[in-house]
Amino acid sequence: MLWIPGPTEVRDEILAELQRPMIGHRSAEMKAVIERIDPGLRLAFGLGKDSTSMAGVGTHSATAMMEGSLTGVGPRVLCIVAGAFSKRWAEVARTLGKEVTVLEVPWGQAVDPDQLRDTLGNGAPFDAVTLVVNETSTGVLTPLGPVAEALKDSPRTLLLVDVVSAIAGSPIDFDEHRIDFALAGVNKALALPPGITVLCASERYLAAARGNERRTWYLDPVRTLEGHRDRKTPATPNVPLYFALARQLEDISAGRTLPEDERHKSGAAAWQARFEKHGRMRERTLSWAGDHGLAPYPEHRLSSPTVSCFRAGDLDVARLVEGLAQHGERIGTGYGDLKWETFRIGHMGDHTEEGLARLLTLADEVIADLR
Ligand SMILES: Cc1ncc(COP(=O)(O)O)c(C=O)c1O
Repeated sequence: MLWIPGPTEVRDEILAELQRPMIGHRSAEMKAVIERIDPGLRLAFGLGKDSTSMAGVGTHSATAMMEGSLTGVGPRVLCIVAGAFSKRWAEVARTLGKEVTVLEVPWGQAVDPDQLRDTLGNGAPFDAVTLVVNETSTGVLTPLGPVAEALKDSPRTLLLVDVVSAIAGSPIDFDEHRIDFALAGVNKALALPPGITVLCASERYLAAARGNERRTWYLDPVRTLEGHRDRKTPATPNVPLYFALARQLEDISAGRTLPEDERHKSGAAAWQARFEKHGRMRERTLSWAGDHGLAPYPEHRLSSPTVSCFRAGDLDVARLVEGLAQHGERIGTGYGDLKWETFRIGHMGDHTEEGLARLLTLADEVIADLR
């Protein structure tokens, strides 16, 4: 089984959706599929019934929408960099010719809201701030409340958030957290094969983007979101993944991905129960690691509910990963510079608590052999 921090295991029911007969992307059937996607997508971003924010789907990976999101904002961008993916967003911004200021955060930590407020208050207002809420490379989940609070005195600054490995594993509460733009691939906690990206934008973002000269066509979020509103796609989408997304969002919203005793839940309560399942999986994984004297890379209070990252200490990461792989279980090494210093377990998506217990018992045996 795939316990890497994405792509993660995909259920058979979802794989079956990919085998449906093809339909035309301008057909009434396709409109119906987009119609099915919409309510669950809005729940995934935590949008209330009266929210004026717009959600939608694009056919590309998440990085493409890091790029797309920036095409709608002005030149002054503050990038909070706390790991490999937030660093990537800063690189993307530079590539697009933005005036990038980087707010460096030590890896394994979350941005300090006071430092963020001070940086925002320094000099001319920033047009946008970029934040990766769940740094898959370090296993840190940045609390969004304090970030929103820090932005209170910066009404002109748009908050762009990568929720790639958070969505469907942790609440986003887009409007409540004053987010202006959010993007996520679907191959992490949404547990689909990779290839499409979901996005959401506030009225403020949309107004700013419509007013800017947008130098992209395919990656223009406004075009994608207006298309979704009209139940259309600007270009040929990955139709099988749309079938899969519709099914997955309906299943999550109907409680069908929950543990047996919680399957009566539906709507926002079912999403909340899914977040709580991931919270329990984080605690179980942290407690297992503690039994082996393995320290989490982030502080406990920042540990992600979807991906746990541990300092390997005296453990040989390559042998641990290989030992588990011999039993058919794949966990992740560290990411980038942390490759052999840390290892990561992705307890995201539709993985169950029973499955996690089996993985950790097997890991006990592998570690005992290694030591
Ligand atoms: C937090 C985060 N952002 C962005 C990405 C990039 O996603 P993609 O490879 O789908 O473009 C990843 C991939 O792992 C990620 O974990």
